[in-house]
Amino acid sequence: MTTSKGKRVLVTAGAGGIGRAITEAFVADGASVFVCDIDETALQNMQTQLPGVKTAVCDIADRAAVSNMVAEAAAALGGLDVLVNNAGIAGPTASVADMDPDAWEAVLRVNLTGTFTVDQAFRRSGRHRGACRLSCIRCRTIYFRSIDPDRRRLPKRFVISG
Ligand SMILES: NC(=O)c1ccc[n+]([C@@H]2O[C@H](COP(=O)([O-])OP(=O)(O)OC[C@H]3O[C@@H](n4cnc5c(N)ncnc54)[C@H](O)[C@@H]3O)[C@@H](O)[C@H]2O)c1
Repeated sequence: MTTSKGKRVLVTAGAGGIGRAITEAFVADGASVFVCDIDETALQNMQTQLPGVKTAVCDIADRAAVSNMVAEAAAALGGLDVLVNNAGIAGPTASVADMDPDAWEAVLRVNLTGTFTVDQAFRRSGRHRGACRLSCIRCRTIYFRSIDPDRRRLPKRFVISG
């Protein structure tokens, strides 16, 4: 059985949706968590409900902001062990003929370049060497233990591999 107790975890887009659930699960398991998000109000609400969680406003499509945010996270937690590269947007659904090119590029900026930028900044932060686990939520690698009958005692736990 693995545990994240004592791990230092960075979750992108952790103030809402799946990222918020992941953050809560890590906190419940004893990890130290740093969350970034573009939604400042959601981050403030999270800090009220999960006071131990450190936060920063950051758009992962902004390379300079990501660099600052990852450095801030590493400083706040004394290093980083785990990255949950969760931020992503759905974008519009349209035929190629009808697709707005600006909307197309916005999706690429967040989902492709932004995910790469966070991953690179995390790896370059240098404090996690030998201990990092990466996860890109758009990949297929989240396994909720709550569906495993042998692990019912940990209903909120999950394993992330990257
Ligand atoms: N919800 C689903 O059914 C589903 C399915 C497959 C994959 N995913 C992926 O899981 C991840 C989370 O999905 P979700 O449904 O929880 O998302 P969501 O739309 O609920 O958004 C969660 C958070 O992302 C933040 N966010 C949006 N753009 C951001 C940016 N540029 N930088 C930082 N934060 C940003 C929002 O403020 C919000 O708090 C995404 O990468 C998504 O593509 C979701």
